[in-house]
Amino acid sequence: MHRIKTMQNKKILILTTGGTIAGSGEDHLQGANYKAGSISGETLLSSLPPIPASLEVYEVAQIDSIEMDAKIWHKLLTLLHQNITLYDGFVITHGTDTMEESAFVLELLYQESKPVILVGAMRPSDAIGSDGIKNLCNAISLASNSKAKGVMVLMNDKIYDPKTIYKAHTYNLDAFASRNGGDMGYVLDGSVRFFYPPYKHTLPFVTDDLISLPKVEILYIYAGISDLPKFSHEVRGLIVAGCGAGNIPTKIRIQLRELQAQGIQIVACSRGNQGFVCESEFIPAYALSLPKARILLALCLQHKQAQEDIKAVFAHF
Ligand code: SIN
Repeated sequence: MHRIKTMQNKKILILTTGGTIAGSGEDHLQGANYKAGSISGETLLSSLPPIPASLEVYEVAQIDSIEMDAKIWHKLLTLLHQNITLYDGFVITHGTDTMEESAFVLELLYQESKPVILVGAMRPSDAIGSDGIKNLCNAISLASNSKAKGVMVLMNDKIYDPKTIYKAHTYNLDAFASRNGGDMGYVLDGSVRFFYPPYKHTLPFVTDDLISLPKVEILYIYAGISDLPKFSHEVRGLIVAGCGAGNIPTKIRIQLRELQAQGIQIVACSRGNQGFVCESEFIPAYALSLPKARILLALCLQHKQAQEDIKAVFAHF
C-alpha cells in the first residue's frame, strides 16, 4: 500500500479497479477513443489537490469494468472486511459500465457500516474536461462524512443508492439515474448533503462465497419472440426481461413453466427502468433491474432452493 498524502482527519483506503477514471488516450479531445484502466492508483492520486484526509491506495485490478467478475468482487469484499478496523472509510474506483452491479453485490454482502463509496468517471483522466478527479475528491469527502454509512455511489456530485442506481447515458457526464426515486444526496465542494438517510439492504442469510455462485442467465423478451434459446445444463436460474409490467408471450410462458418444472427458478423482471413487477406465477423482481435480479437470484440459489423462500427474499426489494 502507498501513502500518498498525509494530512489530519479521516483515514481512507482507496481501492482501485481501473475504468475510465484510470483511462488514458492519445487525443485529449476524444472522449470515446481511449483505454480504460491504464494509469495506476498512485498516478491517479498524485493528481489530487490537498484534501483533508489521510489517503492510502491499493490496486485491486486494472480493468475495463466490462471484465468485472465475481473473483474481483470477492477480493474487494475480503479487503473491506480485513481492513475495517484500520480505516474510517473506503473509496473504490471503478468503471461506470458495471458499477451498479458491483455496488449492489457489495451492498448485500458488506457487513459493516463504515462508508464504502464507488466512484468512476465518464471521461478519461487525460481528456479535456475530465470528471475523474472532481468525482474522486467528492467520493473522499463522502467517505469521510460522519453521516455516510454502508455502500453508496458518487457520480457527477450526486450520491446514489446501490439498489436503485443504473447507468442511463452512454457518454454524458450526468450518466446515472435512480429507479423509482431520486438521488440520495449531493456533494458540493466537499460538503455533503443527504436528501434521504442511507439505508442498508441486507440479506436474510450470510455468505462470502462469490466464487462458486450458481449460473443465472437473462432472457430478453421482444415482439415476435418464438422460442426459448437453449440454455446450458449448468443454468439454475433465469431472469426474464418481460415487456412493460414483466409481460411474457403465452408460448414462452409455457416453455418457462417446463423449465421451472425441471427445477430452474424463474424471476420475472421488466425491460423498463421505472415501476415494478409483481407477477405471481414466477418470482417477481419487484423494483430490481435485470443485472441486480441476476445477482440476488444467484446468491439465493446458494442458500435457498424453494420458490417461496426466494420470493420472500425478493419481496424486500
Ligand atoms: C468501464 O466501465 O470500465 C469503461 C467505461 C467507464 O468507466 O465509463
